[in-house]
Formats: sequence, structure tokens, C-alpha cells
Amino acid sequence: MNAIENIRLLLVDDETDFRAPLKKRLHKRGFTVLEAGDGDECQSVMSDTPVDVVVLDVKMPGMSGIEVLEWIRENHPNTETILLTGHACAADGVEGIKKGAFDSMMKNKAQVDAVIDKFIGKKGALIPLMQEVQKVYNYLPKDALRYISERTGVKIAEIYGVATFYSLFRLKPQGKHIVRVCKGTACHVSGANSILNAVRMNLNLQDEQDTTEDKLFTVVEVACLGCCSLAPVIMINDNTYGKLTSDSVETVLKKYD
Ligand code: FES
Repeated sequence: MNAIENIRLLLVDDETDFRAPLKKRLHKRGFTVLEAGDGDECQSVMSDTPVDVVVLDVKMPGMSGIEVLEWIRENHPNTETILLTGHACAADGVEGIKKGAFDSMMKNKAQVDAVIDKFIGKKGALIPLMQEVQKVYNYLPKDALRYISERTGVKIAEIYGVATFYSLFRLKPQGKHIVRVCKGTACHVSGANSILNAVRMNLNLQDEQDTTEDKLFTVVEVACLGCCSLAPVIMINDNTYGKLTSDSVETVLKKYD
């Protein structure tokens, strides 16, 4: 058994799409890798099994990464923690280091570097570059925008300007499934508001919230979806559901997980 095989590493991140490939890569390199989807699960794993290193996402539903870090420092002082700050501002990484994290790193940095390398120095490349970075995160985190500015030399104000001007860019994380609720005229007169309320209630969304805690759904209001004869209409990803009632919304949403 080599030295790495003796290292037990716990990945704590709510995004399984991020965790699974990273686990595979670390496993290939010989680490023993455990997983947790949030702070509570992390505490439960660490209470049962000794862990040498925790790789911890800063932004998670429930306990934040910083709160989990504080718990680890207090209860498992010999465990090192590396913070992933891809979904947060770099200041979280600095705060984490001050609170005892071994290091912090930007999530998916290698992928972002590869995108920047592909476009750097090319004329008119800022928009396609930002589109590809958005694909990496599914939105444009602020620290990724800052990093693009640092590496390309384009002023951060210009990058923010582009990100906010074009509707194709998203500055907030989106869920796996996008629920478009039509608020066009035909849908409005057929009860679009009650459909929207039913969608939000079924997904347990609070006032300003448009993405569920588990990042499974994002709800957006849109103008006409082009199938007014089916009003009221919602679209989930590429699928259209028409002639809805507040009661049928639940059945439709249950098709997605
Ligand atoms: S108004 Fe809703 S589909 Fe046209």
C-alpha cells in the first residue's frame, strides 16, 4: 500500500455532477474517497470514520462551508480542510484560511484556464469565452468573472457590462430543470398566476427565491411560449405542458428528478 492509499479524503459538495468525476479521478490516484452532500452528512461521516483531508464546498444548502470548517477545526483538529470557492467570492477562501483551512482553490479552475487559453488574445472573443465559462458552472460566478478579467486584462467593469447586457448570461446558479411559466396574454387570462403560485408552492420556493435548495429546479416567468391554444402553459426544459390546472402542476413536476 502506498502513502496515498493511507489518506482518507472526504468530498463535501451538494453537486453530485461535480463530486462524482472528482471522486473518480482521486480514486484513480489511489486516495480512499468518501462523499457527503452537505454539512450534516459531513458531520455524520466524520463521527463514524476518521478522515485525513476534507475538500469542502463553501456554498451549500443548510450549513455553509465556513460553518462546517469551524465544526471540523473544533471537533477534528488533526483533519486538514481545503475549501472550494468556485460558487462564492474569493473572500470566502481568505476567511476560510483565517479560520484554519489548509488552503482554498477555485472550483473547476483547470477547466476555466483551458477555456481562457483557447480564446486569449483573439479579437471579439470575450462573449464566446464567457459562454464557455458559463457552461463550466452553469452560470457565471463573480470570482470566475474576476479571474477572467485578471487573466485576459479586460476590465472587470466591461466584463460585468457584457454579463448583464446579454440575456444569455446568468449571474445566479440555475437548477437542473428550468420551469418556464408563461405569463403571456392568453395564459394570463387562463390563470397563469395560479399556475405560477402552484409551481412555486410545490417546489417550496420562498419570496425572492427562484431556484430550489437542492438546485433541481429554477422557475422563470416568460412571455408567450407560442402555443396559446394550450393556455395556461408551462415548459420544463424542452417539454411543453398545456391546459394546466393548479392541481395538475404537481403531477407534471413529479416527472422530473
Ligand atoms: S400566451 Fe402563453 S403560450 Fe402564448
